[in-house]
Amino acid sequence: MVVLVTGANGQLGQALQSISGNYPEIDFVFCDSTRLDITDLNNIKQSFKQFKPDYCINAAAYTAVDKAESEPEKAQLINVIGAKNLAEVCKEYDTILLHISTDFVFDGTNKTAYKEEDTPNPTGVYGLTKLQGEKAIQETFDNYFIIRTSWVYSQFANNFMKTMLRLASERDSLSVVNDQIGTPTNAVDLAEVLISIIIKTQNSQPETRNIFGIYNFSNEGRCSWYDFAKEIFEINNVNINLSAIPTTSFPTPAKRPAYSVLDKTKIKKFFQVEIKDWKESLKACKI
Ligand SMILES: NC(=O)c1ccc[n+]([C@@H]2O[C@H](COP(=O)([O-])OP(=O)(O)OC[C@H]3O[C@@H](n4cnc5c(N)ncnc54)[C@H](OP(=O)(O)O)[C@@H]3O)[C@@H](O)[C@H]2O)c1
Repeated sequence: MVVLVTGANGQLGQALQSISGNYPEIDFVFCDSTRLDITDLNNIKQSFKQFKPDYCINAAAYTAVDKAESEPEKAQLINVIGAKNLAEVCKEYDTILLHISTDFVFDGTNKTAYKEEDTPNPTGVYGLTKLQGEKAIQETFDNYFIIRTSWVYSQFANNFMKTMLRLASERDSLSVVNDQIGTPTNAVDLAEVLISIIIKTQNSQPETRNIFGIYNFSNEGRCSWYDFAKEIFEINNVNINLSAIPTTSFPTPAKRPAYSVLDKTKIKKFFQVEIKDWKESLKACKI
């Protein structure tokens, strides 16, 4: 079984690389942006012709939430055209696509966890392009899994946890918003779930493979960014004066959803995945 991973040097790409040795039955082909540019259709075709992947995990994306507000064309090119290109080539090569999307497709006005079928209404360019990317895939073919996730962190690449630890090494005090509620996701847990989806799909009979579609995945529980930062500092024995502030005191170019907890009933039911609580998973994340 051949699994091709795009965006292999990003956070999720590196998390996938870190666990790939646990799956000797899978031939992984890790492609970073220099080897495979998802905005270049011919480049994708060449890679698929060479490796003939059974599955493609699209870990490539434009992920700079605030910067996207000032460069929407670039976000659109990578998150929409890139996703569409991959879906077209996957269709041509009969490859199953696993594409990652985001809680930022929602506007955050829900009072209970977002289900897959809830109506998206992104509040910024990043969320909008990720939603358009989902739609471009859905309009191209049926053999996709779109996994929406939230607040991804890990020992790899740039993320909130690493930013907090860096800032704490430079300052005595820090303010973090406490009125945006969501769930952190350890990138390694997300990587494990993606492989689990592939293995379960591979082992199921072709006629029962009507399980394609959108799925939510994050760790269990919920918290604010302030709670998340507090836990990061406690686990890492960092002494810092941390204060909670409202979003209005920390204006950013992109408006973020006030509430973006994802309901994971569907993924647990279809793929029997056991999901760790976010605090437990954070403890397991070693820098
Ligand atoms: N991080 C989060 O908190 C979060 C939350 C919800 C959902 N997600 C989603 O999860 C997925 C993985 O995110 P991540 O945190 O791993 O992101 P990341 O660390 O920013 O990695 C994204 C990767 O995509 C690559 N890339 C950009 N343009 C490309 C192109 N045209 N062709 C090929 N590769 C390209 C980048 O490579 P270069 O650096 O070389 O450009 C980078 O390695 C994304 O779909 C993201 O939208 C993330």
